[in-house]
Amino acid sequence: MKLSREQLEQFDRDGYLFFPSLFTPPEIKVLTDEVPSLYAQRRPENVREKTGDVVRTNFAAHLYSYPFAKLARHPRMVEPIKQLFGEDVYMHQFKINGKAAFDGDVWQWHQDYGTWRADDQMPEARAMNVAIFLDDVNEFNGPLMFIPGSHKLGVLDAQHDVDTTSYPLWVINHDTIAKLVERARIAAHNEEGRKGIVAPKGPGGSMILFHGCLVHASTANLSPWNRVSVYLSLCAVSNHIRRFKRPGYIAHRDFAPIQCLPDDCLLNRYDVPLPWKNGTPAEELQPALKAA
Ligand code: SIN
Ligand code: MN
Repeated sequence: MKLSREQLEQFDRDGYLFFPSLFTPPEIKVLTDEVPSLYAQRRPENVREKTGDVVRTNFAAHLYSYPFAKLARHPRMVEPIKQLFGEDVYMHQFKINGKAAFDGDVWQWHQDYGTWRADDQMPEARAMNVAIFLDDVNEFNGPLMFIPGSHKLGVLDAQHDVDTTSYPLWVINHDTIAKLVERARIAAHNEEGRKGIVAPKGPGGSMILFHGCLVHASTANLSPWNRVSVYLSLCAVSNHIRRFKRPGYIAHRDFAPIQCLPDDCLLNRYDVPLPWKNGTPAEELQPALKAA
């Protein structure tokens, strides 16, 4: 899948691209069928919500789940990012966010690259998320919200919030968010459909890619519908992290370029390694010495 000139211009202007229904229902079923057994596992990669046993996010399933190992090599997800960076990419982080019906908690306003720089010493914003909806996303189940154009401002001041949810995040203060939204609203004034905040919604199988500096958040899910989404955080190989402060299952230390599988990989049999199938290697649970 190649991004067109128009898509490249739109990405540069807005900081994200949305592809409704890019994956078919049979492809998505292969993935959704696997999620309950992953969430049921008692392993450190399952981070649960503050309120109970419900999984907020599952890390690194591509290293121990066959369908997700194939998704991590899917050309529809990986090739556009290689095109944007003009080089090979490796998997910096892989997560399946639950945003469970009634229990799914907020994700505060933040930039991903803010965390990657502060915690992992990633040199530049040459890494980004590509997300795929496993459930339909609507206005009620906590869609991802973006402030269009906010990626142009580089890394913004952020505070390390370890209290609001069960997962620590470098978050942007509310005054700054109000100013950014107003800035985006004014910029959008004469362009139909552009507002200060956007929230792409669509069927399961839709894909979003967004710049590492794009400011984003999502509200709690008070609806009766789950909003499971998978996020691949792909980093240009030359831009690999320099510090291993976070466990390896959250910020990966293997910088090998991703080799894509064929486009039909979710529906057909392909061999992929599952190195963490029998558990997480002890060294991946701990901080480690700095990378080279
Ligand atoms: C994220 O920002 O990493 C996740 C946000 C969400 O799943 O709503
Ligand atoms: Mn994020």
